[in-house]
Amino acid sequence: MRITIFGTGYVGLVSGVCFADMGNDVLCADVDTKKIALLERGANPIYEPGLQEKLDRNKKEGRLNFTTDLTKAVAYGDLLFICVGTPSDSNGSVDTQYVEAVAKTIGEQLNHDAIIVDKSTVPVGTAAKVRTIIQKELDKRKVKHSFSVVSNPEFLREGAAVNDFFNPDRVIVGIEDGDDHARELIGKLYKSVARTNRPLVFTDTKSAELIKYASNAMLATRISFMNQLSQYCETVGADITALSRGMGLDTRIGSRFLHAGVGYGGSCFPKDVKGLIGSIKEAGCDAGIFEAVDVANENQKRSLFPKIEKMLGTVKGKKVALWGLSFKPKTDDIREAPSRVIAQWLIGNGADVAAFDPEATENFKEEFPKIRYGKNPYDPVKGADLLILVTEWDAFRNPDWERVKKLMNTQNIIDGRNIYLGYRDDLEKLGFTYKGIGI
Ligand SMILES: NC(=O)c1ccc[n+]([C@@H]2O[C@H](COP(=O)([O-])OP(=O)(O)OC[C@H]3O[C@@H](n4cnc5c(N)ncnc54)[C@H](O)[C@@H]3O)[C@@H](O)[C@H]2O)c1
Repeated sequence: MRITIFGTGYVGLVSGVCFADMGNDVLCADVDTKKIALLERGANPIYEPGLQEKLDRNKKEGRLNFTTDLTKAVAYGDLLFICVGTPSDSNGSVDTQYVEAVAKTIGEQLNHDAIIVDKSTVPVGTAAKVRTIIQKELDKRKVKHSFSVVSNPEFLREGAAVNDFFNPDRVIVGIEDGDDHARELIGKLYKSVARTNRPLVFTDTKSAELIKYASNAMLATRISFMNQLSQYCETVGADITALSRGMGLDTRIGSRFLHAGVGYGGSCFPKDVKGLIGSIKEAGCDAGIFEAVDVANENQKRSLFPKIEKMLGTVKGKKVALWGLSFKPKTDDIREAPSRVIAQWLIGNGADVAAFDPEATENFKEEFPKIRYGKNPYDPVKGADLLILVTEWDAFRNPDWERVKKLMNTQNIIDGRNIYLGYRDDLEKLGFTYKGIGI
């Protein structure tokens, strides 16, 4: 199949590379000339495990190409995937201008029958809007082409995106009523997924669009639920990790997404929860649960501040080391990362901040040029009065604590992900003052 991908970000690039890896011919288009130049040179603008090797191979074998020429991009594919960003606008509602811009380009340029597949996360009703925009442009040009608009939301997780693409829990496909042609083609595209017994779920476009928001909101709710309980645990002397285990063993609940921490971040959960709130309220319905989830998360990101002050007294002039800057391990993505809120507060209150992250340093540097960035986990702890574990990269799981102790000025640790809780006693015996989340 010939596939065009509009938008070569985390979703578009991974989808393009993986579709090519399945044997399809793929052209990835982006308006970001720098990004396309990088990709044409064989470099990769994002860090995603397993992606580079597939990118190199499929490019070399001629199945994967890149362009900034949107006319060429529209002409290329039988399937045209929209994978552009859908950020929050200033009110927290979803800004669909990039999706609409691609729809307009398609309408202006389309010269053959095609299936337009929306992979971006978009509010209910966007498929219909995309159809209207394309039709309007076709009508202006007085040309007739048959086209379908399909909603195919993406559920891949950054850090495991390639694996998720080939082994999804499910593929959701929203199709307009009676569109058998689109159903057949999309079924063919995802045949390899269906062969591994992964469910391909066909539904209407509105439900498909909402499944994406509702899924992210459910996961975010579980995190905020535990985070809020973690604050109560600290107050009454209960242990949030015992709570997670005790609750998670209930098969009706399950153990995933029940860990307390410094709050969720990333390009999806925060904006999708906000987006869902906006859409629900716009429809005149009650979004109370989701509003509470969002507020709890913002509060959780700030819940470290009193802990930091308790350990350091005033933070002014104190040296603070951050381990982990990306919003989660195995990605260089720092969008909405709790590390940003923590770094901002520390710097704003006069702390001297140093940090190490295995992949996200360059991205963080753009926003926080004054932080001292280390080349390994030990660099930032030199002379530090406090070490904060923000993101639980493997590189931080089993450090040489004797070395850390010698390097630090004062042996204070805040474990924002409770990964050192299992040997807290050993750390305390070594002379560290340890504080986790919800314990
Ligand atoms: N990142 C994730 O983990 C993830 C997971 C599932 C779903 N999503 C959703 O997928 C969508 C894309 O997310 P992302 O993280 O890949 O975004 P991103 O910001 O990393 O990439 C979007 C890309 O689209 C490009 N673009 C903008 N306008 C364009 C146009 N008119 N034509 C061609 N390209 C254009 C941008 O230059 C950018 O490279 C969003 O709706 C997001 O919510 C993201």
